[in-house]
Amino acid sequence: MNLQHQVSLKPHNTFGIAVSANDYCNITSIDQLETVLRDYKNKNVFVLGGGSNLLLTKDIEDLVLHINIKGIEVLAQQNHTALVKAQAGENWHEFVLWCIEHNYGGIENLSLIPGNVGASPIQNIGAYGVELKDVFHSCEAIHIEDQSIRTFNADDCQFDYRQSIFKGALKNKYIITSVTFKLTTSHHKLNLDYGAIKTQLQQMKVQEPTIKDISNAVIAIRQSKLPDPKDIGNSGSFFKNPVITTAQYQKLQDQFSDIPGYTVSETEVKVPAGWLIEKAGFKGKRFNDYGVHKNQALVLVNYGNASGSDIYNLALLIQKTVKRLFNIDIETEVNII
Ligand code: EPU
Repeated sequence: MNLQHQVSLKPHNTFGIAVSANDYCNITSIDQLETVLRDYKNKNVFVLGGGSNLLLTKDIEDLVLHINIKGIEVLAQQNHTALVKAQAGENWHEFVLWCIEHNYGGIENLSLIPGNVGASPIQNIGAYGVELKDVFHSCEAIHIEDQSIRTFNADDCQFDYRQSIFKGALKNKYIITSVTFKLTTSHHKLNLDYGAIKTQLQQMKVQEPTIKDISNAVIAIRQSKLPDPKDIGNSGSFFKNPVITTAQYQKLQDQFSDIPGYTVSETEVKVPAGWLIEKAGFKGKRFNDYGVHKNQALVLVNYGNASGSDIYNLALLIQKTVKRLFNIDIETEVNII
C-alpha cells in the first residue's frame, strides 16, 4: 500500500493550519480502505475528510486516511421521491449542486457548507431551517477494527443538534463510506422558514422560488456572513449554540433586553453563541494572524500563519469570558486535535 510520509496537512484543513502527518494514505476505493485497515491493524488511524470541522494543534502521529472515494448514483425512484447515494469523498456543496441540477430537492438549504459527504451525518450538519437528518435515508460504514461493513438507518444514527452516534458511543469506531439521501423529484417541500431566506428571495425578486433559487439565496446569505476558507482559513461555526433553562434566559433578559432566544422546549431556550461572543466584545477582533470574523462572531479565523494553539487559546478565552459575563458554557463544535 502506498503510504506517504511527512505530508503537510495545510491544504487538507479549511483552517489552513500547517501541521504534518507522519504517515498518510489517500484512499480512493472501499477495497483500498479495507486493505489498509487490515494491513495496518496495529496502528491508530486518523480519518480525514474535507477537513472542514477540524482544528489541528499538533502533527498527527496516527496513520492519516484521507477519504477521497467518489461517485453519485440514483438507487431508486418512486412517486415523488428518489434515493440518491453519494460516496464519502464527494464534496458536499458539489453534491448539493448536482442534486439541484438533476432536480432532486431537499438539501438546497444546505448549500455551500464546507466539507465532504462522509462527514455530514457525523455532526448532523444543518443550516437555514434544514438538518441532514431531515433527508437522511442511511449510510454505510466500515468498522475500523474488523473491517465489517454496516448500514445505519436514521434511528441507528441517534441524530440530534450537531450530534450523532458517530460523535458519541461509536466515536472512532467506524469510517463512513457513503450516504444515501431521500430526496424529492417533484412537489418539492421548500423550506422558507428561516427569515433571512425570505428576505433574500425578495431582494432577488423571486416570487415562486425553485430549489435553485433557494440554493442561490442561501449562497448569497452565507457569502455575506461567512468567510470563504479559500480566502481566510476557518471552520464555520466554532461553537455550538448553547441551550439554557427558560428561568436563566428570563433572568438574562432583565439584564440584556435584546438577547435573542429560540424556544427548544417548555423549559429550555437556545441562545445564539454569536450574539454572546459579539456582546463580549470579540466580534471582528484580530490578534496577530488570527481572530474572530467581522460578520459572524461564531467563526474564528486564520489570516495566514496562525498556529492551531493560537486559535485554541483564543477559543478558551472566549469561553471563559462568556462564562463570566452570562454564566453560560459554550461548547466547541469543531473537533480539536
Ligand atoms: N448573532 C449576533 N452576532 C453575530 C452572529 C449572530 O448577534 O455575530 C445573532 C443574531 O441575533 C442572529 C442570530 O445570532 O439573528 C442567528 O445568527 P445566524 O442566522 O447567523 O445563525 P447562528 O445561530 O449564528 C447557525 C449555525 C450555522 C448556520 C446558521 C444558519 C450553529 C452553531 N451554527 O448559526 O452553521 O449556517 O445557523 O442556519 O448552529 C456551521 O455550523 O458551520 C454554521 C455556519
